[in-house]
This record gives sequence, structure tokens and C-alpha cells, in this order.
Amino acid sequence: MKKYLISGLILASLLCGSCYYDVEEEIYPTLACNTSDVTLSGVVEPLLKSKCYKCHDAANNNGNVTLEGYANLKKYVDSGQFLGAIKHSPGFSQMPKNEAMLVDCDIQKIEAWINNGALQN
Ligand code: HEC
Repeated sequence: MKKYLISGLILASLLCGSCYYDVEEEIYPTLACNTSDVTLSGVVEPLLKSKCYKCHDAANNNGNVTLEGYANLKKYVDSGQFLGAIKHSPGFSQMPKNEAMLVDCDIQKIEAWINNGALQN
């Protein structure tokens, strides 16, 4: 009996490794991801700012990749490298580098923006 209690506690603490994430989509994975009205300035750029600019803004263009500014970003959108990198598709470096993949809903939003023509909106 005691043995089960202990292994239960161990299991619980292992599972709780992910407890502190407060990303809505991870807590409620069944919530639909709202990909309508995704704009560059409202959604995509803020995401890049928080997840990518520390390595890819104009000043920190790691790997010679600058994602700051529409024309710069658009180059990587058109080449497929932007989506390939964040979706961890084969043949692309996995971004954000050495960090957790973007949450699924954020990737879906970026994809929706691209599918709508990757407009400067
Ligand atoms: C910790 C620094 C760092 C972060 C954060 C980061 N990158 Fe990168 N990125 C790099 C480096 C370094 C390279 C050069 C290739 C390599 O070393 O893998 C690169 C390469 C790339 C490339 C070219 C990949 C290819 O295979 O051609 C793209 C596109 C890219 N990053 C997009 C992003 C996006 C989008 C984000 C945010 C979601 C991001 N990166 C976050 C460091 C970073």
C-alpha cells in the first residue's frame, strides 16, 4: 500500500512539471483556436517580438536572418523557411532555437495569416 502511495506521489510530481504553464490553449486544448482576423501588427509581430526578435531583429540577426520589418519577414515567408522553421519541418532549423516549440494555436494563426496572403496589415 505504502509503495503505491509513494509511486503515486512521484507520478504526481512528474506530471506537475507542466503545471505552471498558463497558456490557455494548453490548459483547455479543446477550445477552438480562433484564426480569423489574424493581422501582422495585431498577432504575428507581437509573437515574433516575444519569441524571435532577441535573435532575429535588425540588431541581432542570428544566422544572418532578420525577421524585423515586413520586407525582411516576407522573404522568409515566401521561401517557406519561416513556416518550416516554426513547424519543425524536415530540412529546416527548428525555431525558436533551443526553446519550446510555439503553441499549436500560435502556429495555426501564423499559418492563417500566410494563407491569407501574408499581408502587411
Ligand atoms: C536563441 C536564438 C534564436 C531564437 C530565439 C530564434 N532563432 Fe531562428 N535562428 C537562430 C540561428 C542561430 C539560426 C541559424 C541557423 C541555425 O543555427 O540553426 C536561425 C535560423 C532561422 C531561420 C532560417 C532557418 C532555415 O532552416 O533556413 C528562420 C526562418 C528562423 N531562424 C526563424 C525564427 C523564428 C520564426 C523564431 C521565433 C519563433 C526564431 N527563429 C527564434 C537563432 C534563433
